[in-house]
Amino acid sequence: MMEKGSIVIKDLTIDFYINGELTNIIKQGNCVFPTGRITAVVGESGSGKSVLGQAILGDLPANAVASGEVLYECNNMLAMSSEECMEMYGKIMALVPQLPEEAFSPMKTIYAHIRDALEGAGVVRASCIRHLFADRVAYSLAGAALEGFGFTDIDRILSSYPHELSGGMLQRVLCAMVTYIKPQWIIADEPTKGLDEINRQLVIKNLKNMYENSGSSMIIITHDMKLAQKLCHCIIRMQEGKLYVESR
Ligand SMILES: Nc1ncnc2c1ncn2[C@@H]1O[C@H](COP(=O)(O)OP(=O)(O)OP(=O)(O)O)[C@@H](O)[C@H]1O
Ligand SMILES: [Mg+2]
Repeated sequence: MMEKGSIVIKDLTIDFYINGELTNIIKQGNCVFPTGRITAVVGESGSGKSVLGQAILGDLPANAVASGEVLYECNNMLAMSSEECMEMYGKIMALVPQLPEEAFSPMKTIYAHIRDALEGAGVVRASCIRHLFADRVAYSLAGAALEGFGFTDIDRILSSYPHELSGGMLQRVLCAMVTYIKPQWIIADEPTKGLDEINRQLVIKNLKNMYENSGSSMIIITHDMKLAQKLCHCIIRMQEGKLYVESR
């Protein structure tokens, strides 16, 4: 019997319609992402790592054809409507995308993002947040979340718009937000891609911090084998459409 809260991939096959023809990306893949653990997904560029992440989030593109199951707590994510997936998104599953700026709206301050995320996850009640006092509660929670990820000039960060912060800072803001929301699962896609060594180490520290403080299970999609070895309890390698479970 599989442990409750694990993600189970059963006979997963994914094809894409490209120029009217079906191209196979994942072929009858089977694996388990164990609850409470950090699992790395590794493999060559184009091997389907991000597509697997999208399947787990129930967020495959419209031209994908999928069969098999992605099971989470008796739900097959592939069979859920996009509304049901949206309902789970953020609260139960959260994504830290490779380009953090894509996760932010250019029109909202960092504070508005954190407040809305706290509200969406039920950390702060929506009905209360309209009151000045509750807004202060949300503000201090947002500040506390940022402090945990190394920010010191909290007021400046909270009043900034996303374009006023660097990519690395936005990633830290996202990590802080996700840590506070404590989803059951966090998926981080290529968190260290294209970073210099100092920033790479900082991101590894952030991921570890997020794991230790959120109580969430994690999936880290990466090319960075050192990161996989250092941080992850299990490794899944993707190759030619197949999933291989590698012990560490
Ligand atoms: N929306 C789409 N339509 C058609 N093909 C797609 C789509 N998204 C991904 N693919 C194809 O699926 C395959 C796997 O892509 P994916 O992005 O999952 O690779 P990856 O392993 O994440 O690569 P990388 O390490 O470079 O990020 C690629 O051949 C890609 O071209
Ligand atoms: Mg990818």
